[in-house]
Amino acid sequence: MAEIRSIGVVGGGQMGSGIAQLAAVNGFEVWLHDADSTALSNAHESISSRIQSIVSKGHLTKEKGAEALRNLRCTSNLEDFRSVDIVIEAIVESEEVKKKLFVRLDNIVKGSAILASNTSSISITRLASATSRPGQVIGMHFMNPPPVMKLVEIIRGASTSDDTFNATKFLAERLGKKIICSQDFSGFIVNRILMPMINEAFHALYTGVATKEDIDAGMKFGTNHPMGPLELADHIGLDVCLSIMKVLYAGLGDSKYAPCPLLVQYVDAGRLGRKKGIGVYQYSKM
Ligand code: NAI
Repeated sequence: MAEIRSIGVVGGGQMGSGIAQLAAVNGFEVWLHDADSTALSNAHESISSRIQSIVSKGHLTKEKGAEALRNLRCTSNLEDFRSVDIVIEAIVESEEVKKKLFVRLDNIVKGSAILASNTSSISITRLASATSRPGQVIGMHFMNPPPVMKLVEIIRGASTSDDTFNATKFLAERLGKKIICSQDFSGFIVNRILMPMINEAFHALYTGVATKEDIDAGMKFGTNHPMGPLELADHIGLDVCLSIMKVLYAGLGDSKYAPCPLLVQYVDAGRLGRKKGIGVYQYSKM
């Protein structure tokens, strides 16, 4: 099993910037790419300030913080991924866009490199089939925010090799994560269970069962969830939730997975959650 030393992360949004930070802090050489130059510089800025904050709280030494920042390189040129050992893709949740990226990456990275996707729900088998290396394609699904949340869900596509699985599992362990393994069916384990609950919370709001505050309080104080489902949807991003519901609906073919019209309407209105300052709730400043 080849050792992973160098990691390429594509997508500098909520997830990609968190994955890049986590890898850099754990001593890996990290290349971070985003197609949008503003998103890339915002990612660099937010990673730097989060690392500074961890150092100032005493959870990381000043030297380790400085080393983590030295480990991180942001690039607008995907060709810089030539020598990485693994790419972790964290771009928009669209099968078409991800497939195009996987085709490009397949042509750029070295033959031994693994192509991993942080997708929440899209078929790893289909992403793999767009490449010439289906045995080296795998799902590596981090939770939000990646530096904090303990879990990584590893998804084996139909052709994923044992070597690829073992190397990815070893990497996730070196990043300090608890691992669960899922077969490649829509939504995998976590979102297969979580998203219908969030969608149902939207239905409860849509049909006037209760206020958003009471729906969230019900699940927080009644079932010990750290966040209510509507609050959590804002945290994840309503666009991401809607994309996942569409994948569940298309992939599992049951009307119980149809996205709630209110969720669709909020996304149409640009109410995408915390990242936009408004979703189910309004946020004063992002
Ligand atoms: P985001 O919207 O915060 O960030 C996506 C980034 O990808 C943006 O900066 C965008 O400029 C960039 N991008 C889009 N297309 C690109 C391309 N072709 N090449 C390079 N960069 C491109 O999205 P977020 O929330 O970080 O989600 C990313 C992925 O992670 C999605 O697949 C999502 O389903 C998954 N995910 C999201 C979680 C969440 O709580 N938001 C949790 C776990 C997984």
